Amino acid sequence: MDLKKVGQQYERQELKRETLKESPIEQLEEWMQLAITAKIPYANAANLATVGTDGFPKSRIILIKEIKDSSVVFFTNYNSAKAQDIAKNNKVSLNIYWKELDRQVRITGTAKKSPVEESKEYFFSRPRESQISAIASDQSHIVEKEELYQKVKELEKKFEGKDVEFPSFWGGYNVEIESIEFWQGRPNRLHDRFQYTKDGANWKIDRLAP
Ligand SMILES: Cc1cc2nc3c(=O)[nH]c(=O)nc-3n(C[C@H](O)[C@H](O)[C@H](O)COP(=O)(O)O)c2cc1C
Repeated sequence: MDLKKVGQQYERQELKRETLKESPIEQLEEWMQLAITAKIPYANAANLATVGTDGFPKSRIILIKEIKDSSVVFFTNYNSAKAQDIAKNNKVSLNIYWKELDRQVRITGTAKKSPVEESKEYFFSRPRESQISAIASDQSHIVEKEELYQKVKELEKKFEGKDVEFPSFWGGYNVEIESIEFWQGRPNRLHDRFQYTKDGANWKIDRLAP
């Protein structure tokens, strides 16, 4: 399959140094808000890359559930493949792509488990069916479909008429941002790229060549 002629012209908007926020968190919030307002499907989806225990990079989509202080937060199973990677090496990378806006955001940071109270708060805010599925699924481990559905049935019975028990193997990760790049597609491949890197308590902002 020859895809060399599949190309795009990016001419929607421009990203200027003078209108960039000094705080990358505020810049990220501004772009995220715009993507949500524009009703972009999965506006909060990001590709999370970890370093696998075998040395290979591994990536998968997660949903960013909060942007706070200088971190982004996602939730997952603490026994999953990604969690095992993070336990060995907590340096991760996140990539958000809003194709409808010709925008990409690249984040590198360090992942730390969220405080249990925050994980519990989010867990119990989810529909009961999702809570049960989260408990039933030993994420990233080999499973038979029947076995999974049977487990869901058993849990529904176990928790009938009661609150679901919070699973200790499930929760959030706060990814503390070390560097973040905002990419805006521009005509003729002259894209705007601005990278923020931590400089003590401040952020250093550089334009990168496209
Ligand atoms: C749109 C979308 C959103 C997803 N959101 C999450 C999420 O927030 N947390 C999560 O653990 N997995 C999420 N997944 C599933 C992951 O991509 C992945 O299959 C799962 O986490 C297992 O990854 P691992 O084996 O690398 O740990 C999502 C997948 C898609 C396509």
